[in-house]
Amino acid sequence: MGLNADGQPISGQGSGAPVPLSADFDSIQANVFTPICSVCHIGATAPEGLMLDAAHSYSLLVNVPSTEVPTLLRVKPGDPTDSYLIQKLQGHAAVGAQMPLGQPPLPSTTIAFIVQWITDGAQPGSAAGAASAFALEALAPENGAALTAAPAYIALSFTRALDATRADAAAVRLELLTDSSGTGGSAAADRATSAVMEGAGDVVGARVIETRISVPAGNERTLLLLPLQPLASGQYRVVLSADVASELRALDGASLIDPPIDAAGERIAGSFTVGDAR
Ligand code: HEC
Repeated sequence: MGLNADGQPISGQGSGAPVPLSADFDSIQANVFTPICSVCHIGATAPEGLMLDAAHSYSLLVNVPSTEVPTLLRVKPGDPTDSYLIQKLQGHAAVGAQMPLGQPPLPSTTIAFIVQWITDGAQPGSAAGAASAFALEALAPENGAALTAAPAYIALSFTRALDATRADAAAVRLELLTDSSGTGGSAAADRATSAVMEGAGDVVGARVIETRISVPAGNERTLLLLPLQPLASGQYRVVLSADVASELRALDGASLIDPPIDAAGERIAGSFTVGDAR
């Protein structure tokens, strides 16, 4: 029953069957972002820091500024015309080429579905909020990334909506790892890298970098850290408070279970290097 003469399912309802394209996030992810865009837009070298694989795309798109044109949001819910994503797909963005780069433009019907998703408020997919535990899901730049250019911001995405009132400098901080002379830079970064990666006992200091912390409206599972100054070369890490008084909480008050608190009593979200850390 339900099988054709070859023993295959008759309709496309079986597991692994393609999701038809429609104006919802899961469908756009499955039909466009994953197969077409994440070929390039993935991992530490994703262009403009924009990862479009399923783990990252929503949190890096909705109400998050474009790197190429920082005055525009990549996706502005309700306003496709002012959404940089649409400008890149339609080929009239102020900077760079039409996407997908080096390929024919997406069919206008496909773009129309993405426009409709944004017009409808750019709602998240079915996976959003389904997780029961409050945990860090993804970091951009990725943990361990070696970046040649300073990122415009660091994005942390969580499994559940954040209590934005607790997203402050006490709850999350960006640190530049320094050597004992108090200066950052490549040499310090090298030693810091080995200290962090191997847990060695080297004396390594850390300087807190001033950032503006925000939780984008409509994308409350994401926290953005915008450095007030461009990041200099060096090794950075993102640290979340492990103190009940100041730690991040989910909107319903749940405490973070991951990343765990390490032996030094710290909760490290991840680290990355900027510049030519030799
Ligand atoms: C062959 C590699 C490649 C593919 C495939 C690709 N891109 Fe890109 N994308 C780039 C590069 C390189 C840049 C930066 C240079 C430029 O804009 O031309 C970029 C930039 C972007 C930006 C600007 C980001 C910002 O913050 O300013 C967006 C948005 C974007 N791409 C979306 C997409 C989407 C959506 C797809 C799939 C339909 C896609 N790209 C497919 C390589 C690619």
